Amino acid sequence: MKPLLEIADLGVAFRTSSSLIHAVVDVSLTVSAGERVGVIGESGSGKSVMARAIMRLDDPRRTQYATSSRITLDGRQILALPEREVHRLRGDAVSMIFQNPMHSLNPAFTVGQQMDAVLKAHRKLPGRDRRARIVDALGAVDLPAPGDLVDRYPHELSGGQRQRVMVAQAILCEPSLIIADEPTSALDVTAQDTVLDVLERLSRDKAIAVLMITHDMGVVARFCETVNVMYGGRLVETGPVGDIFAAPRHPYTAALLAATPNPAAPARTLHPIPGTQTTRRGSASTACAFIARCPHATTLCKQAPALRQIRANHRVACHYAEELDLKAAG
Ligand SMILES: Nc1ncnc2c1ncn2[C@@H]1O[C@H](COP(=O)(O)OP(=O)(O)O)[C@@H](O)[C@H]1O
Ligand SMILES: [Mg+2]
Repeated sequence: MKPLLEIADLGVAFRTSSSLIHAVVDVSLTVSAGERVGVIGESGSGKSVMARAIMRLDDPRRTQYATSSRITLDGRQILALPEREVHRLRGDAVSMIFQNPMHSLNPAFTVGQQMDAVLKAHRKLPGRDRRARIVDALGAVDLPAPGDLVDRYPHELSGGQRQRVMVAQAILCEPSLIIADEPTSALDVTAQDTVLDVLERLSRDKAIAVLMITHDMGVVARFCETVNVMYGGRLVETGPVGDIFAAPRHPYTAALLAATPNPAAPARTLHPIPGTQTTRRGSASTACAFIARCPHATTLCKQAPALRQIRANHRVACHYAEELDLKAAG
């Protein structure tokens, strides 16, 4: 079966006055219908740029996609579509949920008014039907008294409730894919749990695929079936969550896992991994993205390893993927 979303050789660079910043380099991944797929990496690893490319949200005047890049969504070539067609997909076939619901909700409008604006933009329905659909969506994310909630303002809700309103808004047009960029990072642990529960149930019941962007291995452990680990704009490891948690094969993945002692209790912040990620300016580097911080690096690593298959569905970009004793190293 064809995947719902296929990203192939995605490269995204930003033009600045003095240089070119390579935010995403050669990323390929797929999301099947109804699948819950994670993208994890520290801040600055290119996760959000990758996510925004799927809906072409970056300013086209400054954004340069590598010529080989392809993003195929349900048979459509996203990077080749006219802007008005991409615009039509946003909030319809694909919805996005961001970290801070207060930035996405307008304080001057009620919950119902803002959700209605989304629905009106995509569906020709009489007002009464739209309201019924909005109340249904609010109920579907477990918000109490949805019939009253439609007339409330965002400031009357808690952070967790606002984020559930964003989830309700995201499902209004029955999308096949939700891209959630750190949707729970600003929430306390209880609210985070509720939002993840709701998203997981919606994904199962309505066969909505979710691309979950996070820096928290705990979120990956409890929500995702497949995970993609990004570092320095590149994909360094990808595979089934169970396999990768049991036996990470890239030193960066191992370090991320070692920094999350108990994935069952999502960490608020990662224990730092020594060193920092560098921004790639000028031409894209030809060395392994992790070379500067990797305790196992050798001169061979000056040549970037290709992402290669080591087991069914498990791919790793490390020359030493088979040899390293990573558990001991972690
Ligand atoms: N619009 C932009 N212009 C220039 N550089 C950008 C822009 N957006 C992101 N970047 C850079 O791209 C890199 C990846 O950013 P991002 O995808 O936001 O990281 P993440 O979401 O993993 O924290 C960072 O170095 C960031 O500074
Ligand atoms: Mg981000």
